[in-house]
Amino acid sequence: MKPLTIIPTYNEIENIEKFIKAVFSYIPPDAAILVVDDNSPDGTASAVEKISADYPGRLHILSRPEKQGGASAFLQGFVWGIERGYDAALTMDADFSHDPKYIPLLLEKANESDVVVGSRLVKGGGIENRTLVRNIISCGASLYCRLLLAAPIKDWTSGYNLWSKNALEKIDIKNIVTRGYSFQIEMKYKAFRKKCRITEVPIIFPDRKYGVSKMPASYFVKALLDVWRIKLMFMNIGIKQFIKFGITGGLGTITNLLLFFLFADKIGLPEIPVSIGCFIIAGTQNYTIHHKWSFANNTGTSTLSVKKWLLFLGASLAGLTLNLLVMKMVLVYCNPPYKVIAQAAGIAAGMLVNFSISKTIVFGRKK
Ligand code: GDD
Ligand code: MN
Repeated sequence: MKPLTIIPTYNEIENIEKFIKAVFSYIPPDAAILVVDDNSPDGTASAVEKISADYPGRLHILSRPEKQGGASAFLQGFVWGIERGYDAALTMDADFSHDPKYIPLLLEKANESDVVVGSRLVKGGGIENRTLVRNIISCGASLYCRLLLAAPIKDWTSGYNLWSKNALEKIDIKNIVTRGYSFQIEMKYKAFRKKCRITEVPIIFPDRKYGVSKMPASYFVKALLDVWRIKLMFMNIGIKQFIKFGITGGLGTITNLLLFFLFADKIGLPEIPVSIGCFIIAGTQNYTIHHKWSFANNTGTSTLSVKKWLLFLGASLAGLTLNLLVMKMVLVYCNPPYKVIAQAAGIAAGMLVNFSISKTIVFGRKK
């Protein structure tokens, strides 16, 4: 594995040189470090440049003109690494809160996971010199995320993580919207939703000895609200898409009925072939609208494909079959006052299955 260690810095002159040396003593001999510095007034960047000759080709610095926050530094670092062919990114703070001695443990777990989290909240991990209040806050915050996001991650805000390239691509780093502590939460939640394998390994997290924390306390409150935002973001995509899917399906039904009326009633052609024809034409209309509208974000291309069209007709057929089955079952087992209730249940079931097949298989996001 070829990991890139990314270290964002802002005024870390007391730490940076020692920290880089320590990291180099734990990463594989050919692995590299990228420092992302935001023009630190204390000259952190020049300190890095001064020692870069000691590590030819292995110590890189990305100098940005002004302070843009740690999250944005990581994001830019990820892109930098992916463009240069690294297959994993290790994220660390420069202040020794992330003890480099845990690097081998994180790397070791990388074989069997997409994301390895250096965790203060699993057995063996912790915060050094923890006060009772801090303990309660950190456990409470973690529990809050776990309950709200319904995902089995413990240390949501940890910034000491190993991200495989695969995971970074899956979570679409260009579309991470929150910053501050929430940034860590959003990345992990997206990874969870994208079915990445996430492993937590215990770390002890000491407070920084030199320099000052750059995270304002207000970020903590912001993060509590952001967790809702993160959750809603995912639901929104789902609900919006589902509504578009439903509208498209409704239009398809109208087309189907109009054509059936025209060919079966007015022209007098036999019902079964007309019905099949209507199904194909309405299905084609649905496929096209889904492609251009309901799932436009997923497809990312404007060309229609025959294979996907056939897959979609298959999904519609599966939906229709389920519709009929559920309708019949409700009629037989529930004996509703009106048959149309059974049909409504059938449509709901059929639509759900059609939607999930469409979303995952037909219009599933391309790599
Ligand atoms: N490039 C850049 N730009 N780096 C920054 C900036 C910035 O604007 N602000 C902070 N950094 C760097 C710091 O120099 C340090 O290396 C790292 O980001 C973390 O900053 P700290 O100020 O030490 O953050 P913290 O200790 O409050 O928060 C850490 O722990 C939290 C959870 O306990 C971070 O790791 C958070 O991500 C984490 O959620
Ligand atoms: Mn810190």
